[in-house]
Amino acid sequence: MRPTETLRKEHNLALQVTRAAEREVRLIHDTSEFREEIIDMIVDFFHFFTSACHEPKEEKLLFARMAARGLSTDTGLLGEIEREHNEFRARIKEITEWRRRRRAGAAADVEELAGMLNGYLKLMRAHVTKENDLLFPVANQLLTDRDQVELETAFSSIECEEILVGVHDKYSGLAHRLASRSTEILEKEHKVVLLVTAAAEREVQAMRENGQVRAPVLDKLIDFYEYFADACHDPKEERLLFARLSERGMSADSGILAEVWQEHREFRPRLEAIRTALERARSGNGQAVTALADELSAYLELMRSHTVRENEILFPMVGHLLTDADQEELTREYESVEAEEILKGVHDKYFKLAHALTLS
Ligand SMILES: [Fe+2]
Ligand SMILES: [Fe+2]
Ligand SMILES: [Fe+2]
Repeated sequence: MRPTETLRKEHNLALQVTRAAEREVRLIHDTSEFREEIIDMIVDFFHFFTSACHEPKEEKLLFARMAARGLSTDTGLLGEIEREHNEFRARIKEITEWRRRRRAGAAADVEELAGMLNGYLKLMRAHVTKENDLLFPVANQLLTDRDQVELETAFSSIECEEILVGVHDKYSGLAHRLASRSTEILEKEHKVVLLVTAAAEREVQAMRENGQVRAPVLDKLIDFYEYFADACHDPKEERLLFARLSERGMSADSGILAEVWQEHREFRPRLEAIRTALERARSGNGQAVTALADELSAYLELMRSHTVRENEILFPMVGHLLTDADQEELTREYESVEAEEILKGVHDKYFKLAHALTLS
C-alpha cells in the first residue's frame, strides 16, 4: 500500500472518532451531561493515535522525504501543516490539564472542556482535508518509486516498534463502537424531554396549589411538546428506528413497538385538549384551571411512561435485532437529520427553550 494510502486510512479512523466526539460535545452542550469515561477514551485516542502513531509517520518520514525532494518546510503547505500538528499538541495538553484538574477535585467547567474539544475537532477536520486533498497529491508527484517503497517499509517498522501491538485494532474497535450507538440521539432528546416534563410537573403542582395559570410558560411548554412530537423527535423514531425495526421482523401490530407507535398518535389530540383547556383557564376560572391541570397531568404521565418504556424496553432490543451495518446506517441518518436541524437553527431554538423552561 502506498504510504499516503496508509495515512488516509488512519485519517478515516480519526474522522470516525471525531464524529463520535462531536456528538459528545453536543451532548454536553444540549443536556450538560458529561460522560467522563467516553471523553477519556476519545482524548486518549487523539493523544496516542496522533502523537504516537500517525504524526510521527508524517513528520519523521513523509514530510522529511518531501523536504529532501525540495519542498520547503518553513513556508507554504508543509510549514502550515507542521504548525497545525504543533497546535494539536498544544490543545491536547490543555485538555489533559483540564482532566488533571478535574481528577484532583478542582472546579472544572464541562462547558469549558466542550469548547476546547470543539476547537480541536474543527481543526482536525480542516487539517485532515488539507492533507488528503492538497498534501498527499503533491507527495505522490514529488516522491520517486523508490521513495514510496522505502517509506512503506519505514512505516511498518513504526507500527511495530513505536506503538503497542493492537493499538490500531483497539481504536478502530472503539470508533466502530462509538459510531454504532444508533439510539443515542434519541436518548439525548429523551433526557431533554424528561427535564422539561419535570418542569411541567412542577408547573401543574403550583397551578393546583395556588390556582394561578402562568400562561406564557404554558404557551412555551405547548410549543416545546408540539415541536418535539411533530417535528423533532417522533418523526425520527417513526421514519428511521421504528421503520427499520419492523423491516427486521419486529411486529408493528402488537407488542412494544405497536404500543409506543400508538402512543405517538395519542399525544397530538391530548396536546390539542391542553391548548383548548388553556384558552378556558386564561381567565383564572377555578374549574377551568383544574381541568387544565388534569389534562396536562395526564399528558405528562403518558410522556414520562412512554419515554421510560422506550429507553428501558425498546432501545435495548435494538442491539439484538439490528445488524451493525443497520446501526451505523441509522446513526448516519440521525446525524444528517440533526445537522439539518442545527443548520436551520431549530435545534438551538428548542434546546434553549428547554433550558429556559427547566429554569422557569
Ligand atoms: Fe495526518
Ligand atoms: Fe416515542
Ligand atoms: Fe422517544
